[in-house]
Amino acid sequence: MIILFFQLQKEHSTPLYEQLYIGIKDAITNNQLAVGSRLPSKRELAEFFNISQTTVELAYSQLLAEGYIMSKPRIGYFVEEIDSLPYRKNNVMDFNFKNVAKQTEYKIDFSSAKIDEDAFPFTTWRKYAKDVLDKPFKHLLQTGERQGELALRVEISNYLHQSRGIECQPEQIVIGSGTEQLLPMILKILDDDFLLAFENPGYSPIPRHQLSQLAIPISVDTDGIVVEQLQKTKANVVYITPSHQFPTGAVLSANRRTQLLNWAAKAPNRFIIEDDYDSEFRYIGKPIPALRGLDQNDCVIYLSTFTKSLMPSLRVAYFVLPPTLIKRYQEHFNYYSSTVPRFEQHILAKFMEDGHFAKHLNRMRKIYRKKHDKCIEIFSNYYPQISISGDAAGTNILIAFLHDQSELALQQIALQHNINILPLSNYYLTEQSYSKRTFLLGFGHLHLHEIEQQIHELMAIWNIFRKLVN
Ligand SMILES: Cc1ncc(COP(=O)(O)O)c(C=O)c1O
Repeated sequence: MIILFFQLQKEHSTPLYEQLYIGIKDAITNNQLAVGSRLPSKRELAEFFNISQTTVELAYSQLLAEGYIMSKPRIGYFVEEIDSLPYRKNNVMDFNFKNVAKQTEYKIDFSSAKIDEDAFPFTTWRKYAKDVLDKPFKHLLQTGERQGELALRVEISNYLHQSRGIECQPEQIVIGSGTEQLLPMILKILDDDFLLAFENPGYSPIPRHQLSQLAIPISVDTDGIVVEQLQKTKANVVYITPSHQFPTGAVLSANRRTQLLNWAAKAPNRFIIEDDYDSEFRYIGKPIPALRGLDQNDCVIYLSTFTKSLMPSLRVAYFVLPPTLIKRYQEHFNYYSSTVPRFEQHILAKFMEDGHFAKHLNRMRKIYRKKHDKCIEIFSNYYPQISISGDAAGTNILIAFLHDQSELALQQIALQHNINILPLSNYYLTEQSYSKRTFLLGFGHLHLHEIEQQIHELMAIWNIFRKLVN
């Protein structure tokens, strides 16, 4: 008879039959029990462990069901042959965790991607979340519409009409979990042999090393993307941020807008991808209407996100297709489910339907304006040698100054003091030489009353001369 080298613990919270099952299973998988060897009968095992036969029976039936043992009627139970699973050493301990980007908490964070955390309308959001996460909405447990929930697409089309000068039907809108997820979808809808042009400097939802092989960089000046440069390339698709160029903050001038639309209309299959990120908060002049609103030839694919207007963690963005591309979208994505949970989509739809999104934008515009004005005031009062640009909209400004250290060295000095601030060179696809050190100073996340001291702290560690003001 085979011998089992384990004990059962009668006081343990794991039931006895389960302890027995685990013990025998482990003995089989560790080759302590040879294939074909006969297991003790139920009675023998029950006597051996001083347990009931029912307990043994339960353990044996589990082992039978999982194929560890077989039963020969009236003879007994035998160890089955099981294919051994390939065993790969778990290399977790050897893994270099230093290579995994961790989210760092900085003492001062001038990141342009962060939002104000104190002004979020938690109470209202919670109310809608509570309403939606309840029995009357139980149908939301099932898979939803591929393009995103109709209720949310209706609200987005209303918002685009009222605030961005865009006329579109909910059928043209596709909702997804972020610009990063949606841009590859858009590119798939376009012809396979598209050639992409990107703003340089610019935002890249595609990793930079891939982008530099994939895309043609086009310069940006104070009027936005230099269309003359684009015209000289073979690109047929261009990705732009016309309302608030990222990261320079330039607004695409009226002349360039017309030039760009004409460029797109001149040949078939030319498209403009308009990323309207960060266009909601404008401090100087009137809101800039979206380029899509001027498009008469169905050349503009409009892309936007709730990342800045609500919260980056919501992961809701969308694109608006020209009617001519809807069929292509359906052909390519009729198998693809929406990447945003249905419950989140309905919470957002209700929030918008009841006017809270518009209210939130107005409130945030005032809050960000105060922070924006504070930054401008500090630089013009104390650091007149620093030039400021990109300050008409968004939640960051650009500061530029002469310095004998490089942008990278200055960034490192800031990091050594636990201050996060990104240089403009971070956003260039190609090597650039420009005389002034330029940084994006994001203020969205900062507290109004701390901004002055935080800017002084940064300037002090960079040894930037501070003018004395009485
Ligand atoms: C121009 C631009 N578009 C989009 C995004 C991010 O969008 P999402 O959070 O929807 O992926 C960013 C973030 O920095 C951006 O700079």
